[in-house]
Amino acid sequence: MSLLSVRDLVVGFPSGARAVRSVSLDLEPGERLALVGESGCGKTTTMLAMMGLLPAGTVVSGQVLLDGEDILAGGEASMRPHRWTDIAMVFQGAMNALNPVRRVGAQIAEAVRIHGGGRREGRLRALEVLERVGLPEGVASRYPHELSGGQRQRAVIALALACEPKVLLADEPTTALDVIVQDQIVALLRELSDSLGLAVVLVTHDLALVPRICDRAAVMYAGSVVEHAACADLVRRPLHPYTRRLVEATPDLTARRPLTSIPGVPPRLDLPLTGCAFQPRCTSSLDRCAESPPPPRDLGGGRSCSCHLVEVDA
Ligand SMILES: Nc1ncnc2c1ncn2[C@@H]1O[C@H](COP(=O)(O)OP(=O)(O)OP(=O)(O)O)[C@@H](O)[C@H]1O
Ligand SMILES: [Mg+2]
Repeated sequence: MSLLSVRDLVVGFPSGARAVRSVSLDLEPGERLALVGESGCGKTTTMLAMMGLLPAGTVVSGQVLLDGEDILAGGEASMRPHRWTDIAMVFQGAMNALNPVRRVGAQIAEAVRIHGGGRREGRLRALEVLERVGLPEGVASRYPHELSGGQRQRAVIALALACEPKVLLADEPTTALDVIVQDQIVALLRELSDSLGLAVVLVTHDLALVPRICDRAAVMYAGSVVEHAACADLVRRPLHPYTRRLVEATPDLTARRPLTSIPGVPPRLDLPLTGCAFQPRCTSSLDRCAESPPPPRDLGGGRSCSCHLVEVDA
């Protein structure tokens, strides 16, 4: 049994957009999984569904199993005991969303108190986690605007860790940072995961970042996971045509190859799909790709791919 297992997650917004069509993920303690894909493919929506934080009126189906217990099934009542204490999230853009008029330490202490800790426990825990994420003494009594971007990102990671979660969902935690600070945040997440046994889902659209931090990766396209693989395999030998195009579109300063983009746009999310979602942009599609959606094919060794071409090759 996995620590966290997401099965057949589907999310439909009241607007009619089906932002998540089919997502299944598994995560073991201390494991680091990357969720990659272009903007709008449903990465954040998937994470928010796992936290039970989607707006009212959103229809979510599937299972989110934490130590075997489906925390999605009972709605808010079954999600609340686990949110922040078992599964925590660093929200996309969170470093710019800290409360500007409250000191950093007080914001973390408050999170501890909301989850049943006392005042003193909250204060001590704030100091402890701020130190744990490598921030200098004194940061607890500063306001967010007195911190650099990298320090603010460390502070929001500390906030997420305040209640000692087993799983951290980190949504684009390095996107707004320069490459040097990006490296430091990557090293921090890796170190926290190793030393605390923290399982991490790293959401990113930057494929180059993935092998530096994660063990495995899941590639999302138009609301579905289309390929699962160990990071090294994914980058060296991508199987799904979308993953291949994504690898070719990733800048590599050491390789002398032309950088390509992926022509076309993803399908509309408010319309049903008859075939493979990537078929209109795929340069090697078959007749059947427009007619039926390719089921995920288990290729062994933790690798799976949803593509009719891979079935033909096999
Ligand atoms: N509250 C909402 N109501 C309606 N549609 C939404 C809502 N939130 C997100 N969407 C839509 O769902 C789709 C997936 O959005 P999501 O934010 O999950 O993408 P993402 O993969 O995280 O993209 P990015 O890389 O830009 O962060 C988008 O088309 C978006 O417009
Ligand atoms: Mg997002």
